[in-house]
This record gives sequence, C-alpha cells and structure tokens, in this order.
Amino acid sequence: MTSVTVRTPAKINLVLGVGAPRDDGYHPLATVYQAVDLFDHLSVSPAADEEVTVEVCSGDPVDAAAEAAPGDEVVADVPTDDTNLAVRAARLLARSTGTTAGARMRLRKSIPVAGGLAGGSSDAAAALVACNRLWGTGLSPEDLQELGMELGSDVPFCLLGGTAVGSGRGELVTPALTRGRYHWVLAVSAEGLSTPAVYDETDRLRSGTPVVEPVVPQALMCALRDGDPTALGRALSNDLQSAALSLRPELAELLDIGRSCGALGAVVSGSGPTCAFLANDEAHAMDIGVGLASAGPFSAVHRVVGPASGAAEVDG
Ligand code: C5P
Repeated sequence: MTSVTVRTPAKINLVLGVGAPRDDGYHPLATVYQAVDLFDHLSVSPAADEEVTVEVCSGDPVDAAAEAAPGDEVVADVPTDDTNLAVRAARLLARSTGTTAGARMRLRKSIPVAGGLAGGSSDAAAALVACNRLWGTGLSPEDLQELGMELGSDVPFCLLGGTAVGSGRGELVTPALTRGRYHWVLAVSAEGLSTPAVYDETDRLRSGTPVVEPVVPQALMCALRDGDPTALGRALSNDLQSAALSLRPELAELLDIGRSCGALGAVVSGSGPTCAFLANDEAHAMDIGVGLASAGPFSAVHRVVGPASGAAEVDG
C-alpha cells in the first residue's frame, strides 16, 4: 500500500457537565458530543522501520492554493516532534501491535488549534485509523477505542463521530439517538486557550461551593431525539463556560452578538475559546455568520453541520 488518507472531524459539546476533580486530577464529565463537518486530513505513507514523522500544513485539501506555508496561523502551534498527538498515536499503535513499520504523515489542518474543538484528539484518532490500515495491523474499532483512551479524553469520540454521550473523563462514549441535521456557526478566536488552565480556573471559581455529580439533562436528549433545534438551542450548556469567560471576558460580548443575530442557542465549545451558535437552517446560519463577522474581535467564522462521521478513510 502506498498511502492512506483519513478525514477526521471537529467536535462541539452540546452539554458539558463537570464534576469536582478526581484523585487523578481529571474531572468527571457528563457530556454530549457532536462531530461537525470541519475536518483535518491526515495522509500516511510507508517509511523506514520505526521512523514516524509528521509534516503539518493548513487549509482545505481541495484548495490548491492552500499549500504548506510555515507560520500559518492554524499550524503555528502544532509541534512536529514526538509530542505531536498523531505521532504519539502511531507509536502507541506500533508498540501495542508489535510492528516495526514506520510512517511518514502529512497533516492538513482546518480545525483550529487549542480551540475547544478537539483538533489534537481528532488527529490522534486519524493516525490510529490511518496507520492501522497502512500497516495492516488489523485492530478492530473497539481495539482502536481502547488505544484512543490512552491518548486523550476526546479521542474515542473522534473515532466514533456522530452524536454521543460521554462519561468518565469523557473517554467512555455511547451513541445517542438523534434525528435531523444541525446548522452551527463557529466563531474562532485568534488565540487559543489551554484546556488544563480552563479546568483549573473552573476549580478556582467553584472553590468553597459544593459541586454535584454532573448528569446529562433530559431536555437535551429529548430535543435531539425529536430533531428540534429550538429546544436544543435552549438546552445547550457548558460548566467550563464561566472559566472561559473569566479568562477571556470578550467572549461574553461575542455570545451576546450571536444571540442578537437570532441564534437559537450560544455556547462556548468545550474549554473554548471557540463559540458555537445554533441556527434554524443554512440560510439562518449565513445570517448569523455575517452578523458575527462584521462584529468580531476574532479570527474566523465557520458554518458547519452536525452530526458528521468520525475518523474514516477517504480517497487520497
Ligand atoms: O485527556 P486530555 O489529554 O485531552 O486532557 C487534557 C487536560 O484537560 C488534562 O490534562 C486535564 O488537565 C484536563 N481535563 C480534565 N478533566 C477531563 C478532561 C480533561 O481535567 N475530564
């Protein structure tokens, strides 16, 4: 086999309930993930034994103008050494299957870095799927899920895709019963937020107050089951939002602008700083996108649709 290309999605959290930190430092979560059609693409080809390398560039794979440009905003913060999550994923797969095969990886990023959209986790998911195919290691989706858990809390969901309930520290995922397609507008900030910093700030803001075990609200599951965007918009929530707004006060204004443009719901995505706005349909999403773009102290607006599929092979 000469090369394999895998497309892997961004995620948003429709609800993110966060409990008090566990003994291992992680927080128990009750979340509902939705994958959206903003994708990174990872191509892998054979390399010398035990050699795993990654090259990172930005842009849409069908956009010929989007050739690798060192210093591109979206890729500037992505390491290309052994700390890169795709490299770690490939090495973990090699170790756990006993293969000595190598991989040359080329990662084309569209998912913003440190944006609360699971970009790094999604790249790890892509590397597991791509290298498993390239190397013929034959692990099942369930085996890949197990490896994914070791790499990051969001990796199992990025493998699964769709809409799913997440528990544990987010790594235990169960597909959710949903109907319909949802139109979102994502407002991406120029500067990312550190996930551990947002969790730490959440703990700081809550110190001295009892924290209850998080549960997924019934209203949100009903909205998804009914395919009702208005009810879904009302049910969006995120326990990390106060901390994200504390670290980035300007996001409060952004959320207000989206609401004033008629968004059915507005929420910080995961640990932020990306904000997600739910629209009625494609035309409404365009209106919200235009309203946000003319207002914003942020770098980009993406119109996306969910649910999208998880990390999967596509034609090169
Ligand atoms: O699992 P992952 O490596 O993606 O998590 C990144 C960081 O986010 C963790 O090191 C931890 O600080 C924080 N985190 C957490 N509780 C979770 C998930 C992540 O505190 N459930």
